[in-house]
Amino acid sequence: MIQDYSNANIVILTGAGLSAPSGIETFRSQDGLWEQHLIEDVATPEGYASNPELVDTFYNQRRAQLNDPLVSPNAAHVALAKLELAHQGRLFVITQNVDDLHERAGSKQVLHMHGEIRKGRCPRSNLSFLMKKDFSSEQLCSCCQPAQRLRPHIVWFGEMPIGMGMIERALTECDLFISVGTSGVVYPAAGFVRLAKAFGAKTIDVNTEPCYTGSFDAQYKGCATETLPKLIDKILNGQPLS
Ligand code: APR
Repeated sequence: MIQDYSNANIVILTGAGLSAPSGIETFRSQDGLWEQHLIEDVATPEGYASNPELVDTFYNQRRAQLNDPLVSPNAAHVALAKLELAHQGRLFVITQNVDDLHERAGSKQVLHMHGEIRKGRCPRSNLSFLMKKDFSSEQLCSCCQPAQRLRPHIVWFGEMPIGMGMIERALTECDLFISVGTSGVVYPAAGFVRLAKAFGAKTIDVNTEPCYTGSFDAQYKGCATETLPKLIDKILNGQPLS
């Protein structure tokens, strides 16, 4: 296994714990989103079919939160943008987060495998649109005739995540895989570490809690805002990673 990762191919998987220090709730912590809402009501195609207004309201609240002046990218988002700049073409950031904090920190190439809260999607053409207003029954697409009611551009439980082909290729080709702030209970993302490891990557978990699987070679335990910038500095300086 290589020691100097300053020129290596790196894949980073981020989850809700990355945005938690920015004031966005996680899903599975105490008082997390799934303590307050039933997944089947607000995050499944069946829930949307039976009560679209409830689902629209849930995602409108999440979108409104992003406009709160207190919500902004944190030091971990900024460190990832810095790594992208220095590591052009050799870094692939996959996020399960639907917020836009990676982009606001300056990252240009982020794959939102679970969708983007600022966008709505036409259910017929699959085209997505930046939403200027809240989701409502009046928000129709401009791509189809008759125009369709836009749905949130979110991958719900039971739906296929976005970009799986690209993700699998990147995982089998990377030298280093880092998971940041994810509980690792939702597949397919939870299985990425095993695939990367099986193809020879060093694997690191950054989390406030102990690792969710034995597939990680190392754990950087602590808040992502403190641990990730340090880890990224080591990578950029070509220092060995413990
Ligand atoms: N720094 C690092 N890790 C943190 C921090 C922090 N400051 N705060 C919380 N964490 C960790 C928690 O210990 C937990 O392991 O972040 C993780 C958050 O886990 P989840 O709430 O389950 O979020 P995530 O893993 O992103 O969820 C995956 O599940 O419901 C779906 O589609 C939704 O994308 C989401 C997916």
